[in-house]
Amino acid sequence: MKTAVVYYSMGGNTAFAAQQIAEALGAELIALQPVRGYPDRGLRKFLWGGKSAVMAETPELQPYVFQPEKYDQVILGFPVWAGNVAPPLRTFARDHREQLRGKRVAAFACQSGAGAEKALARLAECLGLPGLAARLILIDPKDRPKQDTAAKLRVFCDQCR
Ligand SMILES: Cc1cc2nc3c(=O)[nH]c(=O)nc-3n(C[C@H](O)[C@H](O)[C@H](O)COP(=O)(O)O)c2cc1C
Repeated sequence: MKTAVVYYSMGGNTAFAAQQIAEALGAELIALQPVRGYPDRGLRKFLWGGKSAVMAETPELQPYVFQPEKYDQVILGFPVWAGNVAPPLRTFARDHREQLRGKRVAAFACQSGAGAEKALARLAECLGLPGLAARLILIDPKDRPKQDTAAKLRVFCDQCR
């Protein structure tokens, strides 16, 4: 299956997982960046990002190349923000909703505590899909390495082959 891994990452945890998944599947990696970056430290990081996620904002993204016709499968990755999809990935979901119809869509979410289940359900809703073909939840895989992370990534990648 020709696969693209499309992700947004602020602190590198989602990027870390996205790179591993792309490498295991021989997939193309597409990183999203908002035009107007979110504060990435201190209280402002949580206030701005949290508010933006709760409001289900769809920030404008820096230019990226995504040619949907090239892929059978698209894997979406994002950090959980306030129990929701991080807004830059929400923009991508909104902009490519129709193009993703008929493709296999899987997703993974990185979190530090809780909320990923709800966020993944919201992503499926935003895409107008009854569910995701495969899903994975990781706890800060770069910042807090755990023994089971590699096994979880392997199972997810096997489901995406
Ligand atoms: C604005 C903001 C809101 C967050 N909200 C949550 C949350 O609701 N639940 C949670 O478990 N982690 C939350 N986190 C933590 C991140 O989801 C987690 O650290 C994730 O692994 C970061 O991924 P990244 O390094 O790719 O940005 C939040 C982080 C930020 C910046």
